[in-house]
Amino acid sequence: MDDLISRAEALARHSDSAEHYTRTYLTPAHQAAARQLGDWMREAGMEVRVDAVGNVIGRYDAASSPRGAQSPQSPGAQVLLMGSHFDSVRNGGKYDGVLGVLVPIACVAELNRRGERLPFALEVVGFADEEGARYQTSFLASKAMIHGAEAMRPLLERVDAQGVRFDDAMRAAGLDPARTDEARIDPARLAAYVEVHIEQGPVLLNAGRPLGVVTSIASGGRHLVRVFGEAGHAGTVPMGVRRDAMAAVAEMVLAVEARATALGGVGTVGLVNVKDGTGNVIPGEVEFTIDMRAGDDATRAAIEDAVRADIEAIARRRGVRVESSRRHDVSAAPCAGWIQDQLEAAARRAGADPIRLPSGAGHDAMVFAEVTDVGMLFVRCGAGGVSHNPAETITAGDGALAERALLEFLRGFRTPGG
Ligand code: HGY
Ligand code: MN
Ligand code: MN
Repeated sequence: MDDLISRAEALARHSDSAEHYTRTYLTPAHQAAARQLGDWMREAGMEVRVDAVGNVIGRYDAASSPRGAQSPQSPGAQVLLMGSHFDSVRNGGKYDGVLGVLVPIACVAELNRRGERLPFALEVVGFADEEGARYQTSFLASKAMIHGAEAMRPLLERVDAQGVRFDDAMRAAGLDPARTDEARIDPARLAAYVEVHIEQGPVLLNAGRPLGVVTSIASGGRHLVRVFGEAGHAGTVPMGVRRDAMAAVAEMVLAVEARATALGGVGTVGLVNVKDGTGNVIPGEVEFTIDMRAGDDATRAAIEDAVRADIEAIARRRGVRVESSRRHDVSAAPCAGWIQDQLEAAARRAGADPIRLPSGAGHDAMVFAEVTDVGMLFVRCGAGGVSHNPAETITAGDGALAERALLEFLRGFRTPGG
């Protein structure tokens, strides 16, 4: 089957930056990557369309449905939907998301080469934006397929770091911000959603296993917090009377770390921005992001509540004001037991000995879990299991094994009672 590694390398060359691999929503590099994925989907024998928010969707018709049926909206066609995202974090790894598009493309290409069609249609989606690095969104592209304009409308006026409005970026990419509802699909036509993804952790590596079957996906929440103190001269304001917004944020960051650790979840401050920051000015306004996650919603909520209380106490003590807005909120998503079983059996038929494990990372599968049964197949991460890091890697052997396992899954796929 197709050379996964060279395709991932080729796709990573479509980057917003010459220095490292970063591909954000609707940039020229993102559009070039979308065209490349569409070409590979067509080569694999799929009909290809780009939807109203930039998702690239390949369709391989069922044995019985008329050729050319273009989408899950077409009457009668049960669709097994697969895919992942082709945007990235800044200075990220070249397999996060992309692997989950390339592996199903390779499987469809193999079915097509054999002239084999299945009792259901296959659709492979390259989601245009999952990470949200450009406009601080999350799962925007998969949410648009389920919630249409309702998911997109609140984002249209957001502005990126270069001052480009979201809706203008859509127009520049040939998309109409007034027609985002057309991205919505009919979930009733979905037989299931299955996503292949790198593990983004060390569990498979430490267990010496190339593949894993995901049991559930962690609950996640993200907040944008603004802290308002008082800007002042770094040389003249006595330490005891300062309302230093950055010093307050520093305490708040440590509170996130302490609470997440104590309550058994994870907490990360990934972005801190000092407004009008200057070396000899006491920071008057600082904004930062908080990402909090846990295996279940109750634990994540407990972490969020404790952090909120700590931030309020620190603000009171330091005489600063805080504004906080929630930017992301996704419940823990279970992977359907019947899909886990079929993925495990298929991996075994392909020659792997998979283990089952939870996902600490969020995935588009969480969005589809709202409307259909979902499953995920993890592929071992090399380089100590690192991800969201340019060192992220997989081996060609593990990639080929994932392709064989997914192909076995597709050929053996049956819905419960089906
Ligand atoms: O943050 C996540 O878990 C994913 O990479 N978007
Ligand atoms: Mn990611
Ligand atoms: Mn991902």
